[in-house]
Amino acid sequence: MKLFIDSANVVDIKKAYRVGVLSGVTTNPSLVAKEGVKFEDRIEEILKLVPKVESVSAEVTPDAETAEEMIAQAEELIKINNYDKNITIKLPMTLDGLEACRYLADKGIKTNVTLIFTVNQALLAARAGATYVSPFLGRLDDISEDGVQLVVKIAELFRIHNLDAQIIAASVRHPDHVTRVAMAGAHIATVPFSVIEQISKHPLTDQGLDKFAADWKKAVKG
Ligand code: G3P
Repeated sequence: MKLFIDSANVVDIKKAYRVGVLSGVTTNPSLVAKEGVKFEDRIEEILKLVPKVESVSAEVTPDAETAEEMIAQAEELIKINNYDKNITIKLPMTLDGLEACRYLADKGIKTNVTLIFTVNQALLAARAGATYVSPFLGRLDDISEDGVQLVVKIAELFRIHNLDAQIIAASVRHPDHVTRVAMAGAHIATVPFSVIEQISKHPLTDQGLDKFAADWKKAVKG
């Protein structure tokens, strides 16, 4: 399973990219709004920060409601990156979003259909030519449903029917989500930087490092 960072924060994106574990970045209107910067400027900045990743998702803004409006925004976003292949247009899971997805997919532009909460929605997005589909785990857990089970089922559906869309497990809130979606067959988990930090740690790693340091100090002092 590949890891994307779910963030519009340049400091976090830079840190995660430097570690060398990133295959992509996902953003959404809420994440960009939190940064208090102009949307297009931040997308441009992110694209420059992570030149070697396979995908940077830039979402059409909520004021684009029709397929035509979404396509018009997508065309502006694609220009930011000089038509480079790693920009991915993130579209909402609506009929208009799917129509825009099909249009962009037919033009060879990568797409990510977001806010997926059912297997049927994932099927529709895959059939509309989505490169990525984004089921939201944490938000299903929030309403007492099992978000990971959705990923299990979508992965099975895509396998049975040979659908090429990649599953991005999104709304990932903690390390256990990461392990479980990896085992469930998600192609990608997009996670906040805090989760990348958490999954890098274990108390026994810290204890082991302390012991190495103490033993080393003793040996050097003689
Ligand atoms: O990737 C989707 C994510 O940004 C939403 O996460 O925690 O707001 O449900 P959350």
